[in-house]
Amino acid sequence: MSKLAGKHVLLIVSGGIAAYKTLDLIRRLRERGAAVTPVLTKAAKQFVTPLSIASLSGRQVYDDLFSLTDETEMGHIQLSRASDLLLVAPATADLMAKAAHGLADDLASTLLLATDKTPIFAPAMNVRMWTHPATQRNLLALRSAGCVILGPSDGEMACGEFGPGRMLEPLEIVAALENLISDSATSAPVLSSRPLAGRRAIVTAGPTREPIDPVRYISNKSSGKQGYAIAEALAAAGADTILVSGPVDLAAPRGVKVQCVESAVEMLESVRSALPADIFVSAAAVADWRVKNAGAQKTKKGPGGPPVIELVENPDILATISQMATGRPRLVVGFAAETENLVPNAQSKLARKRCDLIVANDVGAEQAIFGGDLNRVVIVDATSAEAWPQASKTEIAARIAALIADRLESKK
Ligand code: CTP
Repeated sequence: MSKLAGKHVLLIVSGGIAAYKTLDLIRRLRERGAAVTPVLTKAAKQFVTPLSIASLSGRQVYDDLFSLTDETEMGHIQLSRASDLLLVAPATADLMAKAAHGLADDLASTLLLATDKTPIFAPAMNVRMWTHPATQRNLLALRSAGCVILGPSDGEMACGEFGPGRMLEPLEIVAALENLISDSATSAPVLSSRPLAGRRAIVTAGPTREPIDPVRYISNKSSGKQGYAIAEALAAAGADTILVSGPVDLAAPRGVKVQCVESAVEMLESVRSALPADIFVSAAAVADWRVKNAGAQKTKKGPGGPPVIELVENPDILATISQMATGRPRLVVGFAAETENLVPNAQSKLARKRCDLIVANDVGAEQAIFGGDLNRVVIVDATSAEAWPQASKTEIAARIAALIADRLESKK
């Protein structure tokens, strides 16, 4: 029996030529025992008629946010809650943009905002619209909000162009829905959005402490908050996550195994012991130097005046892991804390340490980043630098986890 049997699908159809495939999709869903409640946008009605959709689904078609009859029979809030699955097929660039920004000016977008389900989008659009940075930004925002994106696939399009943008075929969508439906008890949420399931991640976070003697050390202001939030976001996205943490004042993130260390040398050893991994995120503020001859006993004041502390360079954990000849994690993400020339410095760090992405922070301009709950970052890779708006460290972490899932997916 199909996992879709007995499930109630709220199907939003937005206005694209791929809407003709949705007629077959409804048939395939119903064949598998699902009930389908259709919602059409105004533009969708230019491509398929409410009558054909109503006939195939055997249900009333909803299309109006301000319909007195519809609101009396079933208010839009209830409509968005009464389903097990919320599927948008086809999902146009416009509806995805509205959903990404929380707009609600028609029934479809209002349902997406009011739902308590994980929205599933099957995008369909012209290849240039799909690859446009605005659509890609919206896609990332939807992914980081936990939405599931199915497709699009590559191929020749109705407009004559070739490339990604075609809606998945109805049977592919049905198979993807069946895969997404969890096997757990029916009282649990039907959908599990875990794009990093089956992946293993190692995250470093916090400062390191480099001993001068048994009671004194050199350290820095890192609170560990951003790294802890990233570990939690990766775990929430399904990755088996190990956090190698310097000394911080934070509770262990949910679903994450924590290995506590003090010095940079210990941190590197701990990371090595946690390998292999698919993902390595180096968020720790590792001390660049350690004390050459750390005293075994507490250093005493004496007639010779203050002691001279000689420093030696610490191993670069990020560069070491990123340059492993065998067993290098598939995606290595570093951080760059800079006080000037943020992007050029981050780009040279990316090249020097040979990592895949750098999350760059301007720590000179915004001292509040240390220990604060907000962050503002620029995501730098070999070819681009994208400034993200200021957001909470938790939100930035969710976006980073979504970006990691995206990059791993495109490396397949
Ligand atoms: N890093 C590391 N091991 C070190 C130093 C840094 O793994 N010994 C990692 C940090 O976790 C971060 C990245 O390298 O992901 C950049 O750290 P940052 O302190 O900004 O740069 P540095 O390597 O110290 O370079 P610079 O002195 O030029 O700022």
